[in-house]
Amino acid sequence: MRGIVTAAVVLAFLSNHVAGHQPEEGARRRKSLGFGSKHPQAGFRTNPPQPSSFSGGATACPFATAKHFADDLLGYLPSETHSYRVRDDSYTDKNTGVTHVYLRQLVNGYEVMDGDINLNVKDGVVLSYGNSFFTGPAPTEASTGANPHIEYCEALEAELLQHQQVSTQDQEVLSTGGNNHVAELEHLMESNCHHAEVPLAFGRPGASQPTEHSVENALLQFMIAATPKVDLAKDMIHRAGEYVKEMSSIFVHDLHDNHSPAMQIHNVPDTVSPVKARVGYTQVVSEDGERTSLELVYKFEVEMQDNWYEASVAAVAPHKVLSVVDWASDAAPVPTQKRKESTRATYNIFPWGMNDPSEGDRKIADENVDSLASPAGWHAFPWANDPQSLQGSGSSKAPKGEFWRNTTSTMGNNVWAHEDWEGQNNWLHNYRPDAGADKVFDFPYKPHDTNKTDALGEAKKYINATVTQLFYTTNMVHDLYYRYGFDEISGNFQQYNFGRGGRENDAVIANAQDGSGYNNANFMTPPDGQNGRCRMYLWNTAMPYRDGDLEAGIVIHELSHGLSTRLTGGPSNSGCLGWGESGGMGEGWGDYLATTIRSTKKYKDYPMGAWAANREGGIRNYVYSTNSTINPSTYKTLDKPGYWGVHAIGEVWAEILFVVNAKMIEKHGYSDTLFPPSPLEDGTIPEGDFYLPIKVDAKGNKGPLVPKHGNTLLVQLVLTGMKLQPCNPTFFDARDAIIQADKVLTGGENLCTLWSGFSDRGLGPDAKVEGRLPWGGGIRTNDFDLPTACRK
Ligand SMILES: *[C@@H]1O[C@H](CO)[C@@H](O)[C@H](O)[C@H]1NC(C)=O
Ligand SMILES: *[C@@H]1O[C@H](CO)[C@@H](O)[C@H](O)[C@H]1NC(C)=O
Ligand SMILES: *[C@@H]1O[C@H](CO)[C@@H](O)[C@H](O)[C@H]1NC(C)=O
Ligand SMILES: *[C@@H]1O[C@H](CO)[C@@H](O)[C@H](O)[C@H]1NC(C)=O
Repeated sequence: MRGIVTAAVVLAFLSNHVAGHQPEEGARRRKSLGFGSKHPQAGFRTNPPQPSSFSGGATACPFATAKHFADDLLGYLPSETHSYRVRDDSYTDKNTGVTHVYLRQLVNGYEVMDGDINLNVKDGVVLSYGNSFFTGPAPTEASTGANPHIEYCEALEAELLQHQQVSTQDQEVLSTGGNNHVAELEHLMESNCHHAEVPLAFGRPGASQPTEHSVENALLQFMIAATPKVDLAKDMIHRAGEYVKEMSSIFVHDLHDNHSPAMQIHNVPDTVSPVKARVGYTQVVSEDGERTSLELVYKFEVEMQDNWYEASVAAVAPHKVLSVVDWASDAAPVPTQKRKESTRATYNIFPWGMNDPSEGDRKIADENVDSLASPAGWHAFPWANDPQSLQGSGSSKAPKGEFWRNTTSTMGNNVWAHEDWEGQNNWLHNYRPDAGADKVFDFPYKPHDTNKTDALGEAKKYINATVTQLFYTTNMVHDLYYRYGFDEISGNFQQYNFGRGGRENDAVIANAQDGSGYNNANFMTPPDGQNGRCRMYLWNTAMPYRDGDLEAGIVIHELSHGLSTRLTGGPSNSGCLGWGESGGMGEGWGDYLATTIRSTKKYKDYPMGAWAANREGGIRNYVYSTNSTINPSTYKTLDKPGYWGVHAIGEVWAEILFVVNAKMIEKHGYSDTLFPPSPLEDGTIPEGDFYLPIKVDAKGNKGPLVPKHGNTLLVQLVLTGMKLQPCNPTFFDARDAIIQADKVLTGGENLCTLWSGFSDRGLGPDAKVEGRLPWGGGIRTNDFDLPTACRK
């Protein structure tokens, strides 16, 4: 009963702070924590020598090959203190035939949450591997080593100080948005460093707070750092004991992850669902920076209004916060069954390839059913995977004997799109346009000139058109990425997986006109089997307001977070693109894909988010351009003050890929469509003018499908590269993974073309970095040269 009383107290508290969620005038800046240790021993290696003693040969089971390789690499056989498990989200890629094997380290029987080996195996050979296993002896007691949270905040402060001094002299920085960079650093500090010291006070003898270490204390201390509500944080500090008492923990016996005990904690302030917790180890860097030590932690999964955190908090008091990844990513700080034709829906939308309303008018488009990617179309899913009927709510109950639930609204197997004017987390029964039995989604969109008072009301009039567009774009992106290998087994977003592997019940939840803010967008990517969340906002940058749902580039950028997060480090590990270079590339891939999708045969420079932001140059520092005068970003740009935020880093990565793309088009020409041909009745995919002729070896084995044009091939290499690269990749790792993807797919035909693109922006073979912190900084050296093999 006590729990219910508390819930009411906490709710009342929440409503006191609803102000924090009211739409603000300017850009919406979410509070978001993100930091952790960089593991000095971690690395990614392509084409490693193979252990000699293994005689499995090319036909060996890839898992046996992987295990043999790993045991040789580790130099010990699994024992009571040191072992690993093969994660069950490991899979074999259908097209490349590469098996991606993920090992999770176990020490003293506990998982090392950031101890991963990913091995890419084909024909009995380990093509490449990443390794972040802890290398020291098993700890016998809880360590009380470094505090990455405090270290991050100190480093941020130092960077900010230095930048403030530098920016008065450095005209270039100023002229390229230097002030933006200060603002970015300030935002990072405000997000991450509020109450950074508080956890240390907790559990201190004599303090008024509880001194016992417990999972509830650890969680409360995280919530103090995580909540964006200043008063709530203060109250949690003040009345810690009471908050802790009101939490209740239950053990959950999960069929899948039975290696660490799992708990669910209820009544946690400022969360929107029970917190999941597991015990394990996290690595923290030793003082000399050369090794890591293990710290016993609670690993929490905390879903909040604006964040979805994976956090490691020391299990022993003082409960330091050791690492945090926010599964939510923002868009930008501003400034084989043939279906009957008759069952297809139609939509009045800005067509695919048109970035935003400034590029033309809406047209009627078909439900573009790709029979491979969406065999049941966009408006059907099984009753058994229907969250409405699973909740037993509403009119939605399975009629006897019916397998499919067919909808006439914007609910389908890949995405559920709807308004979210309240800006809350409910979505199951939010308003969706219903097009009736003929599924004609033809709704008016004619925004009138307005004044500020009426602008919101005017925008809301077009919710039917807007939700339709969001539904359409999201389905197209689902189908497109599917065809390049983001399928069920690699962790894509679908309610039902057609028995093709992977975890289901995770369609994208897409909120249009989300009322929790303006001038942004974000995406939350939990592990495979849990719904991704996409929130799109209105932009009050012009009258009438502009609706982010109508700018395809922004929607594509957001959905690409789901793609890169699920493909990097395996479908069940959502913690691989948290901060620093890896977090930055998470942004960069989104810009690269959004730009590639809108590109046309005739070369042009492209801004990002220009229509929504009502700014010619868009929301990045530079437009994407192969011309170094227009976009001067190179690898070394990351040294610059202010390049700590993931968007600035991402912009450099996207620019590098933009240049690589141009080189690939120069060599292989351009395909007007990124969509491969539909499969034939028998399920085979015709080469058409899209794929290179399929290679068949002496034994009659067919090689992979490889797109033949520059733009399509690079999309394929980038997606395959994501599957090959390790958790927490650096720019070098991601570059090497793309080069290896080319080797896997074409035998390495594009080695020198790819290098020429990377080298053009300083990421040549001898590029290096010294003194990099996990989150930013360091001194980089550009290399504009090609590898010897490619020099003419
Ligand atoms: C419902 O959807 C399924 C899967 O796409 C399809 O086979 C079936 O024909 C649809 N039923 C109706 C009545 O449209
Ligand atoms: C805004 O426009 C509406 C209708 O166009 C009008 O009724 C209202 O008075 C205007 N408000 C202001 C403050 O101008
Ligand atoms: C949306 O479309 C429905 C018909 O499907 C209509 O009843 C409703 O008024 C429309 N909403 C708006 C805001 O125009
Ligand atoms: C690059 O851009 C600059 C500035 O717009 C322009 O002067 C120059 O001609 C461009 N170079 C090329 C090769 O197009």
